[in-house]
Amino acid sequence: MDTVPDILKVSILGRESIHCGFHLIPYIARTVLTTLPASVYVLVTDTNVAQFYLSAFEKAFSAEINKLSSAKPRFLSRIILPGETTKSREGKADIEDFLLLERCTRDTVILALGGGVIGDLVGFVAATFMRGVRFVQIPTTLLAMVDSSVGGKTAIDTPAGKNLIGAFWQPEYIFIDAAFLESLPEREFSNGMAEVVKTAAIWDETEFTSLETNAQLIYNAIRTPSTGYAGRHISTRSTSQSLLLSVIRGSIYVKSHIVTIDERETGLRNLVNFGHTIGHAIEAVLTPHMLHGECVSIGMIFEAEVARAMGVLKQVAVGRLVRCLRAYGLPVSLADQRVSRCPGARGLGVDRLLDIMRVDKKNSGPQKKVVILSRIGATYEQKATAVDDALIAKVLSEAVTVKVDLSTTLGTQHVKMATPGSKSISNRALVLAALAQGTCKLKNLLHSDDTQVMMAALQELKGASFAWEDGGETLVVTGGAGALQVPTAGTEIYLGNAGTAARFLTTVCSLVSPSAATNAGTATVITGNARMKQRPIGPLVDALRANGSEITYNESEGCLPLSIAPKGLQGGVIRLAASVSSQYVSSILLCAPYAREAVTLELVGGAVISQPYIDMTIAMMRTFGVIVTRDPGTDIYRIPQGTYMNPAQYAIESDASSATYPLAIAAITGTTCTLENIGSASLQGDARFAVDVLARMGCEVVQTANETTVTGPKRGELKAIGEVDMEPMTDAFLTACALAAVAQGGEGNTTRIIGIANQRVKECNRIKAMIDQLAKFGVQTKELDDGLEVYGRPFNTLTRGASVHCYDDHRVAMAFSVLGTIVPDTIIEEKRCVEKTWPNWWDDLENKIGLKVGGIELPRAESSTAATSGTPSRAASASVILIGMRGSGKTHVGTLASAALSRRFIDADAYFEAKHNIGVREFVRVNGWPAFRTAETESLKEIIQEAGTGHVISMGGGIVETPQARDVLKNYAKTGPVVHVLRDIEEIVSYLGDETARPAYGEPITEVFKRREPWFVECANYDFSNHITVDGGEATNAEISRFFKHIIGQPNLAENVAAGKRSYFVALTYPDVMPALRHMSDLTTGVDAVELRVDLLRAPDALGAIPSQAYVTAQVAALRRATSLPIIFTVRTISQGGAFPDNSEKDAFELLGLALRLGVEYIDVEISASERLITELAARKGFSQIIASWHDWSGKMKWTEDVVRSKYALASRLGDIVKIVGKADTLQDNFALHDFVAKANLQRGAKPIIAINMGVEGQMSRILNATLSPVTHPLLPSKAAPGQLSFAQIQKALNLLGQLPARRYFLFGNPIAHSMSPTLHNAGFEVLGLPHTYELLETANVGEELKATLAAPDFGGASVTIPFKLDVIPLLDKLSPAAEAIGAVNTIIPVIEGGNRILCGDNTDWLGIRESIRSCAPSIGAPAAALVIGAGGTARAAIFALQSLGAQCIYLFNRTASKAQALVEAFPDAPIKLIETLDVWPAEGPSPTVIVSTVPASATTIDSTNPGAVLLPLALFDATTNGVVVDMAYKPAVTPLLMLAKSAAPKWARVMGVEVLLEQGYIQFETWTGRRCPKHVVSKSVLEKYFAAA
Ligand SMILES: NC(=O)c1ccc[n+]([C@@H]2O[C@H](COP(=O)([O-])OP(=O)(O)OC[C@H]3O[C@@H](n4cnc5c(N)ncnc54)[C@H](O)[C@@H]3O)[C@@H](O)[C@H]2O)c1
Repeated sequence: MDTVPDILKVSILGRESIHCGFHLIPYIARTVLTTLPASVYVLVTDTNVAQFYLSAFEKAFSAEINKLSSAKPRFLSRIILPGETTKSREGKADIEDFLLLERCTRDTVILALGGGVIGDLVGFVAATFMRGVRFVQIPTTLLAMVDSSVGGKTAIDTPAGKNLIGAFWQPEYIFIDAAFLESLPEREFSNGMAEVVKTAAIWDETEFTSLETNAQLIYNAIRTPSTGYAGRHISTRSTSQSLLLSVIRGSIYVKSHIVTIDERETGLRNLVNFGHTIGHAIEAVLTPHMLHGECVSIGMIFEAEVARAMGVLKQVAVGRLVRCLRAYGLPVSLADQRVSRCPGARGLGVDRLLDIMRVDKKNSGPQKKVVILSRIGATYEQKATAVDDALIAKVLSEAVTVKVDLSTTLGTQHVKMATPGSKSISNRALVLAALAQGTCKLKNLLHSDDTQVMMAALQELKGASFAWEDGGETLVVTGGAGALQVPTAGTEIYLGNAGTAARFLTTVCSLVSPSAATNAGTATVITGNARMKQRPIGPLVDALRANGSEITYNESEGCLPLSIAPKGLQGGVIRLAASVSSQYVSSILLCAPYAREAVTLELVGGAVISQPYIDMTIAMMRTFGVIVTRDPGTDIYRIPQGTYMNPAQYAIESDASSATYPLAIAAITGTTCTLENIGSASLQGDARFAVDVLARMGCEVVQTANETTVTGPKRGELKAIGEVDMEPMTDAFLTACALAAVAQGGEGNTTRIIGIANQRVKECNRIKAMIDQLAKFGVQTKELDDGLEVYGRPFNTLTRGASVHCYDDHRVAMAFSVLGTIVPDTIIEEKRCVEKTWPNWWDDLENKIGLKVGGIELPRAESSTAATSGTPSRAASASVILIGMRGSGKTHVGTLASAALSRRFIDADAYFEAKHNIGVREFVRVNGWPAFRTAETESLKEIIQEAGTGHVISMGGGIVETPQARDVLKNYAKTGPVVHVLRDIEEIVSYLGDETARPAYGEPITEVFKRREPWFVECANYDFSNHITVDGGEATNAEISRFFKHIIGQPNLAENVAAGKRSYFVALTYPDVMPALRHMSDLTTGVDAVELRVDLLRAPDALGAIPSQAYVTAQVAALRRATSLPIIFTVRTISQGGAFPDNSEKDAFELLGLALRLGVEYIDVEISASERLITELAARKGFSQIIASWHDWSGKMKWTEDVVRSKYALASRLGDIVKIVGKADTLQDNFALHDFVAKANLQRGAKPIIAINMGVEGQMSRILNATLSPVTHPLLPSKAAPGQLSFAQIQKALNLLGQLPARRYFLFGNPIAHSMSPTLHNAGFEVLGLPHTYELLETANVGEELKATLAAPDFGGASVTIPFKLDVIPLLDKLSPAAEAIGAVNTIIPVIEGGNRILCGDNTDWLGIRESIRSCAPSIGAPAAALVIGAGGTARAAIFALQSLGAQCIYLFNRTASKAQALVEAFPDAPIKLIETLDVWPAEGPSPTVIVSTVPASATTIDSTNPGAVLLPLALFDATTNGVVVDMAYKPAVTPLLMLAKSAAPKWARVMGVEVLLEQGYIQFETWTGRRCPKHVVSKSVLEKYFAAA
């Protein structure tokens, strides 16, 4: 085999030491051994790189060493953990210790094989080991290739910051083997591309152009494995590979050139910091969640915008930069979901970023320095430029304000400008100029994705060549006169999601003639992104095929990708269905002159859509020399044969909708504005705005064919114009509204805009948007069926400082900026939404129109911290949509869910009725089912549009019947939760009862169920099992709350999974969990989660080893009813110690996917599974967490070995929690494990790790493991693994090991001898195996004894009762808000704050009351009225509890009115009403549904002859409703009040004082120990003792 590769060399600091190529490993070994003689070669790499390349290096070196006849040097390798945390002092010491241990001497050569981390770390080791040894860089990431390996900078990080300690140390060689990039994760590749793009942007426009057009080709080089060492020699190098290498080399060349001139970074070298000033600040906030290159990418765009705002850089350049970075998968703004999902994203405030930028090496004094681009490929200065903070702040702000100075008159100002080119005209002009003969200078071309891909495609087809002039303002097109070629073999034309380009190019590609198919390509393939592959192209392809073109669909029928054979266009009669898109018509028209026969184009198939666009195409063809005729009164067009002739220059007309804004500003401010490139000859409807609207409003309008000038009347003198039909220029209506807001005169200052109904379904419901936002200015409006009326007001009476929400709609933002020019302090909230059509609008407003624009920082909204559930991306605020069969309980579930989430509930049927003024059934009867389904789908779209966030929406059962509605739902499910409410069909049938006897849809309900079931599954991304009938409510309520909180981002995760805490789970090892459910309280004692071993589940009658989805769903639902703990969903394979077949990976992942749909909190995924499947699952995990697990059952794995590090690295990458399980043979193995965990935890951002050793010898590891330790329980059928201990056993062991010191808890009070509290807490401690004690401390006062107890180091906490609830307060450091409000303390908790132990006072009495009410009567919710009897300390707790339940009215009864009045004053915000008798409610208000008595039992009576006590009347209870009565009196168990309730209101729930005591005791227990109280055991002990004493 020929291993001498073709090498490209680059020189740096005068030596050709950078060698680039493909598959260089043998070459590297040979070069190093022959030119750098040494006694030992040490290769250092990380676990990720080692798995791919280490053995090849070992082989190559060994082969070369064997060839040596002299003394044979040693070759050693050292593998370390990957990641930035390794770049530390410890990491350096680790390598140095290794070198010393291996007796390496000064002649050692160290090879750094890896990314920038390895390069920086190993370089620094080399710089200082034995005062410096030789080293070689072998970068394996793109970033390392083009950046970190070149230049000789080496460094490590310290806790004080990155790269603070290091040295300049040049490597002997830098070997760039681009084949390494094939194994690099794409995100890392993109990370490096940020540097590549940056270098081209500051230095080399040609290189940049190549990058912007060739993204696809460059990706091909890393996505297609180069087998057989392809690329090692030029002869075997693919086009993609050559391109990749040239891109890398180009970048390195620039960097080495700059380094050579300025090695120690004094001036010029600063240029490579483009994007870094702002990028670094962003990185500081988002690290480690965002990569360096990703942050720099965003930084580059911000810095380019700074340059644009300075007037130095044109928007064209900013646009090119944005598109180029996007093409390499990089984020370009802080709005990118990857950013907003980062935990730290909320910290990206402008001030914070500016503050971070303050410490930048480049700054000169207080002024920040930014590399300012002047165009693509060049910078403004040969160094970074000083920039004011205010300018950076403006660019970084999300919102803007136009600074208005009403004291000045702008009267004489005359603005002349051009607005961005029209998109439709730009696309047509490109095709025409390319197909024409000669050269044409296109001016004012819109730079968009469409035009960009169109140009790339035309170049690919060798149809034309393009060059930029005037810094990108002019595009010079040299046309190919219609001669086109099939692209080079293997090259597909990639169009992204550019719709116009796809349609136009389909016919353009069919023009390629057979003779032009020279390059071995047999057909032209056009393709696009996933969305593009769904967009229709069928009618056009049908027409072309019928005309003889050979076009095949490569994937789905009717969509891209297409293969188009080079046959030329036949011509003659072409028939086209033109009712879907006018772009099909334009596509054929544009190409028709080049057909073999003159074309007659007949439009068939119904009304032709968008005729103006067809007219536009024909008019433009005429300009390029081809005259189309239309047979009068028909849709038949005749196109002669011919060749287009390029005019020398073609100015693309401005976009007419955009043009309305500067003209409106002239109108409203009383100034003059002339727009070039748009006039009366325009074919765009909105071009009539000036004449039809502005002139009528009192402006002077002068319009020539190509120019429009508007002069406004004096400020404040615009006229209201009565009615205006804006049907021909609908997009301009928002601009008109802004003007109408200040227009006067006519009847009631009214401007009535009609003909714009379609604007309800644009980027937002624009009519509603204008109405809502104008209201903020105090402007009144009225909505009409097809428009609105605006009632103008004098401009100086409009509300100042309005903050306009733009609904992410560019037109809303720009329209309100018009109003903002005369209403001071107007804020436009989302300034970036203008990017869709006029990205530099705000800069143009300042630099061209002359109005000052300032940045405004809005308070940052709650950012959604997490990803999604069951979907790739999701905002936590997205509305939840419920679907499911009629009778499945959607309304019930939806109502409870909306209560749990505090959201509004929308019932789609009710919405429909309100909208159509007719019931659903009636609508169907009158209009029939098809009409109903269509209307229902429209309603669905509207609801999503209007209530897309913050709601819970329940849809009708039949919503899935039409494909259209299913599409809407599926589309919604890409970013929002769609929940399928499941209920057993038998239950539904019996629930619907009689109704089902008459088949509602003419078929039995079970048939309907069968048909719809798959559609529900297909449309939903979550499943909720509704079991109301099974448990009657309480568990269902709890589960509804848990499930819906989970899907909106408040998952029920185990709180004890956190640093410094210990958490546990119990594994359920049952084939069927049902029989275990009644033991669930025992089984889960102390633990934080339950593991469902799905691999062990077996339905009683099922065959095979794989449980069905339905069975698993039922098991999960049953488990949810028995416990509120989070579930760990585990499908353990046989080879990892479970029972799931090893060869059924797909089935396993289907079950794991099901777990996501069910809202399971933790999903255990084995890292031995396919990484692709794991990553795909993780992408959909939403708010669930992944436990990435690895089990070594062989017993051979040693915690000190590299293999553990690599498993750990892989698991940390794939999971949120790492689980590694080994086996211990000796106690020592546990120490090794402990050591590994301690080191792993030191890494910044380390994930929680479950690390245990199996076997009896491994028990120690189970005791010491901190995260989710698996525990067993005596009631379980079998231990899930050998060596497992119970929760209580572990606590005892921890205590013995000194890890869980015993604490003393107390009750302070007097008298307390009969208290139940010691029984309560001591029973709890005992069951959990906790070493603590609870004792009584009965003292006469709050004196020394009590103080000493509080100060003792083993004091764990105390309960406080009468008479000390107030007296203890002075001894405490801090009170909780509840204790503060109630004015009493019943719980003392010692906590560590800022390193000091402080004592906190809390009051859990109110919680006890609230929880008793909630658990006894969950349906009570927020009571309309409640009653409190008594006015002492407990009454205060009762009022606080009722307030927190949301009681709308609290009646308060107390014998002594003055005490009651004092309470009213103590709770000024509570809706308290004093009452004097217990049977009349004031002002006929509602009777209470919650009653809490806080007086001793002896103070009440039901015996009317007992004069000493308050007589409780029968009328106290409204027996017709549900209610709950709580008697806080502790003795006797059944008080007069409870007795009365039993007889008078049997439906009411009754709560005894001892039950409240228990509830508040549980809460105390949990606060003190951090563990759930084992309620079942504790309550049993307490109640037994209580009743025994009674
Ligand atoms: N010295 C300099 O001038 C300079 C310049 C820029 C950056 N840096 C430093 O570089 C570091 C970042 O470098 P990086 O982006 O290369 O990160 P990295 O070294 O952490 O590598 C990224 C990831 O890719 C893996 N990996 C590397 N090569 C691979 C391959 N071929 N196949 C599969 N996986 C592979 C690594 O194991 C790692 O997980 C930072 O510490 C930064 O400070 C230094």
